[in-house]
Amino acid sequence: MDVILLGAPGAGKGTQAQYLEQHTGLVHVASGDLFRAALRQGTELGMLAKAYMDRGELVPDELVIKMIIERISKADCAQGVIFDGFPRTREQALALEHELAQHGRKIDYVLYLRVPDDVLLRRIAGRQTCKTCGYIYNIYYFPSKRPDVCDHCGGKLYQRSDDTLETARHRLQVYFAQTRPLIEYYNGHGNLREIDGRREISLVTEAMTAALGLHGSDTEK
Ligand code: AP5
Repeated sequence: MDVILLGAPGAGKGTQAQYLEQHTGLVHVASGDLFRAALRQGTELGMLAKAYMDRGELVPDELVIKMIIERISKADCAQGVIFDGFPRTREQALALEHELAQHGRKIDYVLYLRVPDDVLLRRIAGRQTCKTCGYIYNIYYFPSKRPDVCDHCGGKLYQRSDDTLETARHRLQVYFAQTRPLIEYYNGHGNLREIDGRREISLVTEAMTAALGLHGSDTEK
């Protein structure tokens, strides 16, 4: 099964992907995480991406597409992937379809997490991420037990450099202009499921697993 998580910055894609990965055994592939890992490793791709990320702009399609295709060609992705933050443009969506089709695969579900803008900004402002294992927390909604320390691995929590209010606002504008049209695109394909992402994390997870046909029937569309 191949699944796309679609939604604005702060909608909860990464948070839900970490739960869905455990429930489904699918591999979580997050374009933003791959760029941040490339930056930590000091690669040319990481340095190039950083300039775009810090401005809240999208990294050019050809760089993202190449990186994702390389990642999903690895053996661990053969049984299916949860795509988080990719695709973000029509070009990326077409490239992904083309790549999967070459291996007899297709996007089975697109789960669209719908969250109002004011909630998104508060979530982004409160986000903390573990430097070591990448686990996502929130100082308002989902704090770690000890301040700035990861409950899972004891790693240090940090705030992403693109999580300032100014950059977050711009990321939202970029999302509305370039990524939101994909909702209509996937709706036309009949595989889009809309999920109310305002609810607490565990309820959103339930709705998503139900939408994937894994249990229950708590979907909205
Ligand atoms: P990326 O890393 O993909 O960021 P994003 O899409 O902007 O999404 P976020 O990570 O901000 O939000 P999320 O939906 O994952 O929310 P989260 O679960 O963390 O991209 C960063 C940059 O990389 C882009 O701006 C771009 O430059 C570049 N890039 C990446 N992919 C690209 C692509 N395909 N093409 C071009 N450029 C690309 O949750 C947010 C917070 O809310 C957390 O603190 C969490 O604990 C909390 N939270 C989550 N759910 C709930 C809930 N239900 N209730 C309360 N709190 C919640």
